[in-house]
Amino acid sequence: MKWEELPTPCYVVDEKRLKKNLAILQGLERDTGCHVLLAQKAFSMYALYPLIGQYISGTTASGLYEARLGREEMGKENHVFAPAYKERDMAELVTLCDHIVFNSIAQYERHRGAVAGHPVSIGLRVNPECSTQEGHAVYDPCAPYSRLGVTRSELEMRYAKLPADIEGLHFHTLCEQDADDLETTFLALEQKFEPYLTNLKWLNLGGGHHITREGYQMERLKGLIRRIRADYGVEVYVEPGEAVALNAGYLVTEVCDIVHNGMDILILDASAACHMPDVLEMPYRPPLRGGAAAGELPYTYRLSSLTCLAGDVIGDYSFARKIRVGDRLVFEDMAIYSMVKNNTFNGIPLPAILLLRESGEAELIKEFGYDEFKRRLS
Ligand SMILES: Cc1ncc(COP(=O)(O)O)c(C=O)c1O
Repeated sequence: MKWEELPTPCYVVDEKRLKKNLAILQGLERDTGCHVLLAQKAFSMYALYPLIGQYISGTTASGLYEARLGREEMGKENHVFAPAYKERDMAELVTLCDHIVFNSIAQYERHRGAVAGHPVSIGLRVNPECSTQEGHAVYDPCAPYSRLGVTRSELEMRYAKLPADIEGLHFHTLCEQDADDLETTFLALEQKFEPYLTNLKWLNLGGGHHITREGYQMERLKGLIRRIRADYGVEVYVEPGEAVALNAGYLVTEVCDIVHNGMDILILDASAACHMPDVLEMPYRPPLRGGAAAGELPYTYRLSSLTCLAGDVIGDYSFARKIRVGDRLVFEDMAIYSMVKNNTFNGIPLPAILLLRESGEAELIKEFGYDEFKRRLS
């Protein structure tokens, strides 16, 4: 399929760029002996799981459905962490997962009996209480009153030593961060949880490592992982989501109309609210091919959408040429936290999913229609 023939809106995942990221992650495993897991919450394009599984150790899940998807579609190492599990989900999770990580002592004590007898390694998520993010409380599991992970004081009120069936500790504190912040966090973990770091089988350093970003401190990450393995004799896991498919996808959209109210406003068939919710939630401004900051190039437009939400605005961008109805625009870095979060608010269609092959050919993987909209309602 040619670029002009793509059904808009659509996500296009770029195989070449994905493989570039995967090769970096594979190198990390090779050079340190760690295990890299795909955090499916960021990217669950399971048509690519067989490919991804050729490079990294497996998948991690946020609950039962992702755990099933990882088991069914990649079939490699499969881990799960959720703030709480229901009993009926646990009965299935023990058949699907290699590691189950609990978020509280109460959850561990409630479910440990259900795990016993299955080939599942139990872990506990801890909270190192070490914030390394500035101004992003919503993405900071170490922010005050965080529900994510057991604090040292909670843990020591119940256990002086970890029970023998807790084989690993997990922490996740980073968001789009570098290895220096991971190092700071790990030092905090060592200080805070020192009595609990002996006799472990594994440590999981969570996600948020922007490993495949240009300029990431890769050698620092490798050095830290080697040190952890040597000092504690543990297997080390990292579970990046973003880094797997960073800059490896696009959202292609068509200009449906241009309206004027103090400025020129494009009505696109893509929506921030429906198709790239992080633009509003984070919030952030997605890179746009051929687009620059407002006012930088001769023609500035506000990019907005077909929904009724007044604030469904992607941002103001400038272009070298005048934009016309029917033009196609391409948002970049749209593989991650996009198709996993989209919705059909206002009955707006879900974008089709395509794969841009290394050959340059775009292959339609899936299209969605009225049925998907209707099936989720009643
Ligand atoms: C427990 C856990 N692991 C891994 C990840 C993946 O993080 P990222 O996509 O930023 O690498 C997340 C993201 O929220 C998470 O909560």
